[in-house]
Amino acid sequence: MKSIRVGIIGVGNIGYAHCSCIKNAKIKGMTLGALCDVDGEKRRRLAAEFPDIKVFEDGDELIKSGLVDAVIVATPHYFHPHYVISALKNGVHVLSEKPAGVNVSEVLKMNEAAAKSDCVFGIMFNQRTDPLFQKAKEIISGGGIGAPKRLVWIVTNWYRTQSYYDSGSWRATWNGEGGGVLINQAPHNIDLWQWLFGMPSKVTAFCREGLYHNIGVEDDATIYAEYDNGASAVFITTTGEAPGTNRLEISGDRGRIILEKNELRYTKLDVPEREFCFAEKGAAATPAANEFLYKFDNPRDGHELILEDFASAVINGTPLIAPGVEGINELSITNAAFLSSWTGKPVTLPLSQEAMTCFDSMLEEKKAAEKSFKNSPEGETAKPGYIKRWSVSW
Ligand SMILES: NC(=O)c1ccc[n+]([C@@H]2O[C@H](COP(=O)([O-])OP(=O)(O)OC[C@H]3O[C@@H](n4cnc5c(N)ncnc54)[C@H](O)[C@@H]3O)[C@@H](O)[C@H]2O)c1
Repeated sequence: MKSIRVGIIGVGNIGYAHCSCIKNAKIKGMTLGALCDVDGEKRRRLAAEFPDIKVFEDGDELIKSGLVDAVIVATPHYFHPHYVISALKNGVHVLSEKPAGVNVSEVLKMNEAAAKSDCVFGIMFNQRTDPLFQKAKEIISGGGIGAPKRLVWIVTNWYRTQSYYDSGSWRATWNGEGGGVLINQAPHNIDLWQWLFGMPSKVTAFCREGLYHNIGVEDDATIYAEYDNGASAVFITTTGEAPGTNRLEISGDRGRIILEKNELRYTKLDVPEREFCFAEKGAAATPAANEFLYKFDNPRDGHELILEDFASAVINGTPLIAPGVEGINELSITNAAFLSSWTGKPVTLPLSQEAMTCFDSMLEEKKAAEKSFKNSPEGETAKPGYIKRWSVSW
């Protein structure tokens, strides 16, 4: 097989960007096989623009059509687990947009379906391909910072105006999206946090709803997480601060990396800090260290790289940069953060059955009590190719 025929379910902003890139032969190993959207007006426009491509109203019909080898799920988040499970059960490879879903309980079912399937299942964590994060991963996995101590990520440059929130009726609602900045923008960062630093065992969080916008979900969040080995993490994000900051600092016994302003600074200690602390006689002496600076110019768009990586996994059996089953990790941190904020108590990870049930029922209460904000008409028009706000921003 030289290329796979791909169907796209949900052809809105990101779905249309994937569609145009594949149709314009920018993605090695992929051709466009079929499209699907529940919106009739979008289907009419797609049929006019791509007369040789069949456009479906129902994603399950597309999956069963025989017209595709793989699907990309680019609907709002609540539908991701349904279409992933449907694809896997029908022998169709699947790449889900992030986040994996909204409820960990649903995503567990998705991962169970993946365990029983021989199909490739990937997730669009495009920021994992960024050379700075790749370098950070290489340094940390190679023991370059030693035993992990602390991660601090201030990512407050996910700035969004009210017009963004008004641009889609599902956006920033409990019913349509299941949250705000933690479920829409920050999944990329929370995934990178767990990918680089591992999964914490306890989460305490403060999520503030409608702090800066006319929305009912959180647009500001602070998470404090603890690890069994004594390490800790602090994660701060918002869509309501300008100018925002994007600064990630990870420290360990052997050194530290700082990612900021599109650069990675790695400081390597000559001796491990724990050893130095008890051997050194000077009361305020610090370990000698060397600093290394990494910069990478004009990396290729991460979405294109993930699409090609997924095609290669199907065609050549190569390992995925972002396996779909890993989507549960960042979502577990997010579900725990919501639950902690709603109950005022720390939440342990992995989530217990009781915690999942509690999260699901509290989310249902939020949905039932949801107040409607009078949004202006839907504003955003999908554009071909990937827009800047979807890439790593420093
Ligand atoms: N990886 C990234 O950089 C990135 C960027 C943007 C969006 N996303 C993710 O992609 C998803 C879609 O976001 P968007 O901004 O494109 O939203 P959007 O509203 O622009 O598009 C969603 C589309 O799905 C369609 N749809 C809704 N329910 C459907 C269903 N059951 N079956 C088929 N089609 C359905 C809608 O009509 C719409 O056209 C979200 O999960 C979002 O988090 C990821």
